[in-house]
Amino acid sequence: MNHSPGTRPSQLGGLDCPIPNAVVPVAGLGTRLLPATKSQPKEMLPVARKPIVQYVVEELARSGVRNLLFVTGRGKAAIENHFDPDLALRESLGKAGKEELLAALDFQELGLNILYTRQSVQRGLGDAILQGEAFAAGQPVIVALGDSIIGIEGNSTACRRMAEVFLAHDAAVVVAVEEVPEDHVSFYGIVEPGGVGDTFAIRSLVEKPAAKDAPSRLAVSGRYVFFPGIFEIIRRLRPDKRGEIQITDAIRMVAESGGSVLGVRLRPDETRYDIGNLPSYFETFIEFALADPDHGPRVRRYLRRVLARSRGGA
Ligand code: G1P
Repeated sequence: MNHSPGTRPSQLGGLDCPIPNAVVPVAGLGTRLLPATKSQPKEMLPVARKPIVQYVVEELARSGVRNLLFVTGRGKAAIENHFDPDLALRESLGKAGKEELLAALDFQELGLNILYTRQSVQRGLGDAILQGEAFAAGQPVIVALGDSIIGIEGNSTACRRMAEVFLAHDAAVVVAVEEVPEDHVSFYGIVEPGGVGDTFAIRSLVEKPAAKDAPSRLAVSGRYVFFPGIFEIIRRLRPDKRGEIQITDAIRMVAESGGSVLGVRLRPDETRYDIGNLPSYFETFIEFALADPDHGPRVRRYLRRVLARSRGGA
């Protein structure tokens, strides 16, 4: 379904996800996006009409997730405010007859139960995920990073597909992967595939390798499904040189001890928009603005003009 910004959240809901619980880590400091993130969470930066994290939440709703736990941290209150109903705003939009906007802001219609917990000390992504242990309550859980959007406007049900693969193969871990250019390999967790195809076994993983040492160009793309045993493994990990507990290390331990770790390739229309660094944030903003049903054509004309001008000036 094509989700335009005017689409009501209730129109997103589809099939229920066979794994209904998702943890969304949003505790990272966003230092790669300074100064934009000095006093606001990177997940609240706008991409065209919406803050990044709203696309992530809508994507999860589209996959049929029902319960969502944000793992927040210092300075992240704006995320909680964003998803809370604002009665005064509702009333004034209602009086002004802005029905479309009212509907677009009604996050309760997503049918999600949104919870919050906090990572009190910055100890890396693995530790942030560990904060979701009680929420997972001994069941498999999805993890969706709050600074990555899958598909234009989050139009993807990759998490549901991953949950189905997880259950069908009785896997321990499923990760979404995407092939990246060689000069991006050192930004991501990179997998060593043990097979080919849309779903394949992963033999091992390495966090942010130099391109020359990387086992492939297949990058872990911000969406995971974990068996409940992952939390015990995270707890046993030692922090890396930067004092961070890496989820990649936990997944590698599972793979190398014979557990079933599977990669699910994102489809061609499921581009992964990584907002964690400035160049890809700029690119994502432009692409989403171009896709805007009301304003996209005007942005396209404007870009053409600007590009023609800058070529002339070069
Ligand atoms: C994290 C993970 C990395 C993964 C990436 C996806 O890195 O550690 O394995 O590929 O997310 O965005 P971060 O971007 O938090 O440095």
